Amino acid sequence: MSTPLEYLQNHQETFREELFELLRIPSISADPNHKKDVHRAAQYVAGQLEQIGLNNVSVEETDGHPIVLGEYLEAGPDKPTLLIYGHYDVQPPDPLEKWETPPFEPTVRDGKIYARGASDDKGQAFTHIKSIESFLKTGTDLPANVKFIIEGEEEIGSPSLVPFLAANKERLKCDMVLVSDTAMFAKDTPSITYGLRGLMYLEIEVTGPNRDLHSGVYGGGVQNPANALCEMIAKLKDEDGVVQVPGFYDRVRPLSDKEREAYAQLPFDQEAYNRELDIEEAFGEKGYSTLERVSGRPSLDVNGIWGGYQGEGAKTVLPSRANAKVSARLVPDQEPKEIYRLIENYLHEIKPPGVQIKIFEHHGGHPVLVDLDFYGLRAAAAAFRDIYGKEALFAREGGSIPIVADFAKTLNATTILMGFGLNSDSIHSPNEHFHLKDFERGMKTSARFFELLGDHVEQA
Ligand code: BES
Ligand code: ZN
Repeated sequence: MSTPLEYLQNHQETFREELFELLRIPSISADPNHKKDVHRAAQYVAGQLEQIGLNNVSVEETDGHPIVLGEYLEAGPDKPTLLIYGHYDVQPPDPLEKWETPPFEPTVRDGKIYARGASDDKGQAFTHIKSIESFLKTGTDLPANVKFIIEGEEEIGSPSLVPFLAANKERLKCDMVLVSDTAMFAKDTPSITYGLRGLMYLEIEVTGPNRDLHSGVYGGGVQNPANALCEMIAKLKDEDGVVQVPGFYDRVRPLSDKEREAYAQLPFDQEAYNRELDIEEAFGEKGYSTLERVSGRPSLDVNGIWGGYQGEGAKTVLPSRANAKVSARLVPDQEPKEIYRLIENYLHEIKPPGVQIKIFEHHGGHPVLVDLDFYGLRAAAAAFRDIYGKEALFAREGGSIPIVADFAKTLNATTILMGFGLNSDSIHSPNEHFHLKDFERGMKTSARFFELLGDHVEQA
């Protein structure tokens, strides 16, 4: 009989095929037209969980998209219980014309799997399914009990999972949560993420005259909603990138000297960053480094803005309406709801005369910071070291996984963020990909983590 790591090595081809099956399903949670596909993806994941030998596999229906569960509790009550979380839903693939190969036809090029969801999060979630398979199929004792929870609404803020957690506390009870839905610090540079930002997302509509107007006849005589919207947006931040909304920073936990020192020690190359993005220089809140700005400090951005004439040529028109989507990434201890209220109030205050505004809130999520002393993190770091042959770094990240805060609050469990993706994987963008090498090392790191967990539990 082979060891789990040997088993993983010997089945790479099969695992790739199995992942491809999942990647072919356009499980776009945000798009109601894909509801059936999202369901199909849930069924496929459940089939995988069954096939590897988990018990009590179920597809839990919700008001939104289903949640897939499965467990293996044979390690026994004296062993730790891990909840493994992932998501099988994906972001919309547009703009389609920017994809070199279609988003739902997984293709391998230059050692990378190209497909929507390859890295975020189907490929990463798959690493743990295969890792557990490697124990169960080789008859190796699992040093921990495992419960899988793979949801279909992460990309829309996990609206169904939040109440599901609260209603199923006993069933999901665990000692820690394991998640691979983040990025490594850099290529071949494993890292454990110990912080995630939260999110507040709003939409604003500015309306003025009751119809579009001739800009010669009315220009100069009425407030233009597009101009008014730009004026308001321009007042959200100053030229130093500092958010001007009163109270916005009130609950921000300042970065300690120790943490800033740790930030400075991370191997970050500003020149390479600029080059990779084709920008002349980086920009952000004055007084902070790029790494601090994108993970340790909050940010505020326009995500979309529209209104007026967008067609060919020039049309001399004053639009009667203009809209924008605006969001903020939050850090502990900012509260999404409170930040929404603050920005809403501020927008009403600075609204220029002659237009009306309507504001509403989209889904959001709380920020998190993980206790760096948690013994599970040491096992994770050791596993990374064994498989990647390099010490794992500890870093905060700027993206959000809203449910992680709920794992802490509702299940009282620490989450280990063990990402195998890269920031250059183009998640949410065209040509999303996942390095085959990281898919493989991800599975092995997960298996190694379980092997090591036993020792670390004893030290804890
Ligand atoms: N995998 C990402 C989160 C992520 C990205 C963490 C990069 C760390 C680095 C996740 O699937 C995601 O995109 N989440 C959304 C959440 C939002 C829709 C509430 C995000 O961050 O935009
Ligand atoms: Zn995502």
